[in-house]
Amino acid sequence: MDENILAWSLSKLAHRRFAIWAFLGVLLIAVSLFTVLKPYNGLDLPLLTLHWSRGINLKMLSILGADDDQKSILQSGEVIQPKKFEPFLVPICNFSEDKSDFCEIKGDIRIQGNSSSIFFTSPQIGTVQKNNTRWTIKLYARKTDKYAMAEDEDLLLKPALSDQEMPRCTVNHTIPAVVFSGRGYTGNFFHDFSDVMIPLYLTAGDFNREVQFLFEKKHRKWWINKYSPILKALSTHEIIELDNDQEIRCFKNALIGLKSHKDFDIDPEKPPFGNSLRNFTKLVRRAYSLQREKATKLTAQDKRKPRLLIISRKGTRLLVNEDEVAAEAQSLGFDVEAMELMNDLRVFSKRVNSFDVIVGVHGAGLTNMVFLPENAVLIQVVPLGLEWLAKAYFEHPAKDMNIKYLEYKINKNESSLIEQYPIDHPVITDPSLLKKEGYGKFKSIYLDSQNVRLDVSRFRGLLLEALQLVQG
Ligand SMILES: *[C@@H]1O[C@H](CO)[C@@H](O)[C@H](O)[C@H]1NC(C)=O
Ligand SMILES: *[C@@H]1O[C@H](CO)[C@@H](O)[C@H](O)[C@H]1NC(C)=O
Ligand SMILES: *[C@@H]1O[C@H](CO)[C@@H](O)[C@H](O)[C@H]1NC(C)=O
Ligand SMILES: *[C@@H]1O[C@H](CO)[C@@H](O)[C@H](O)[C@H]1NC(C)=O
Ligand SMILES: *[C@@H]1O[C@H](CO)[C@@H](O)[C@H](O)[C@H]1NC(C)=O
Ligand SMILES: *[C@@H]1O[C@H](CO)[C@@H](O)[C@H](O)[C@H]1NC(C)=O
Repeated sequence: MDENILAWSLSKLAHRRFAIWAFLGVLLIAVSLFTVLKPYNGLDLPLLTLHWSRGINLKMLSILGADDDQKSILQSGEVIQPKKFEPFLVPICNFSEDKSDFCEIKGDIRIQGNSSSIFFTSPQIGTVQKNNTRWTIKLYARKTDKYAMAEDEDLLLKPALSDQEMPRCTVNHTIPAVVFSGRGYTGNFFHDFSDVMIPLYLTAGDFNREVQFLFEKKHRKWWINKYSPILKALSTHEIIELDNDQEIRCFKNALIGLKSHKDFDIDPEKPPFGNSLRNFTKLVRRAYSLQREKATKLTAQDKRKPRLLIISRKGTRLLVNEDEVAAEAQSLGFDVEAMELMNDLRVFSKRVNSFDVIVGVHGAGLTNMVFLPENAVLIQVVPLGLEWLAKAYFEHPAKDMNIKYLEYKINKNESSLIEQYPIDHPVITDPSLLKKEGYGKFKSIYLDSQNVRLDVSRFRGLLLEALQLVQG
């Protein structure tokens, strides 16, 4: 590695460490000043009401099963500006992360699900202006994404005027609470992992399964059931749906919102430090009882052929000549299957885990790589215009999972768009132009109206590369 780069990243790390220590120092001083001036007596403290309004979301009906990202990956250029929050919340809340806002409260916390409110007192909080003002926070871990957040609910924060606003506990919990949103883009396979399961792991992974999950739901039971192996790996306690909960649940420690670093990925240098995406996929393999941790290279002694899975899609971004591609792979010695997404992850995850290579056009189906053994191969087929999404959503995560990543960027003449536009049309020659014009239009063309027909003789090269990676 270039020494300058190394020095630069070390100094960046040092800066970051310094910033954290400085922050902790200021926090400590603030807390101790506060404690000195105003000892905790449980009543004399600011009382806040966190409250989130509810809404009915019928806009995005969840489609069970197959083409999970019909609703699509709406990574948008249209970004909503992060909110500015009241300084008094700073000791408990972090609003400066890119992906999500979250608060970690220690004190007396009372959660009333059916009114979507969280009441609390905490010695961590400084002076609160006792105006009946409300602040809003959203729990879904994609805070600047206009579309996702429109689905999510505002969590309103308001200082309460009196402690009569603290309802009486009907259930006392001794373990910490993690409150999160099951709305936003949930139901989309990619976003379920990117925006919920990985953030949940980052937020609750340290509790040794002694944590109570509470969430605002969007889907019926199938969603919880689909992910229950992961939820159970993180908590031994039954998840609570807040929407119709009649209890007043009291906690001494609560995390409101989830920690999130980036799309479908983990940054080991962000809190909770030292976690990587590989730690997460390991947990997933354990949760779904997947046999293969690591793919070992097949040798001449191995009886079986290397297995290749083609992730089929319906609706959009079809691989039109899937049969031809399958036949080509077969002729090179692969044992080939083509499958669509299935909703039953307990079954599907085991199937996926048995493969050495998966191939698919950019889309939510590639999320299945979380079930692959390490050292397996992902071949992402990248349609016109989607390089940036391909990189952020699957290339980086694949590498961080220790999956070998190969990419097949299609030529113009492999895209169905050339049947709709002249070959020298800007749609074909410069997709970035349309991206600038607005995400909606970009999406409607490149994500929603484009199929691919692979040039099999060119694709063969990539299949041979994959074969070399899995065979000794
Ligand atoms: C809050 O977020 C910032 C921005 O990413 C980060 O640097 C900082 O460490 C976070 N603070 C805490 C206490 O987690
Ligand atoms: C709270 O109310 C006081 C008096 O009405 C006002 O001066 C102050 O600006 C208000 N603070 C906020 C945050 O609204
Ligand atoms: C919960 O704990 C509080 C404080 O210790 C106590 O007053 C209350 O009776 C308890 N409520 C229940 C339902 O156990
Ligand atoms: C919410 O639950 C409380 C009991 O905790 C009950 O008194 C109240 O009537 C409920 N409100 C609604 C709107 O269901
Ligand atoms: C993550 O995995 C590494 C390597 O196996 C291990 O050393 C580390 O302790 C793990 N971290 C957590 C938080 O489990
Ligand atoms: C498609 O385009 C590539 C690169 O421009 C070219 O090499 C190839 O021959 C073309 N294939 C067909 C079938 O036109």
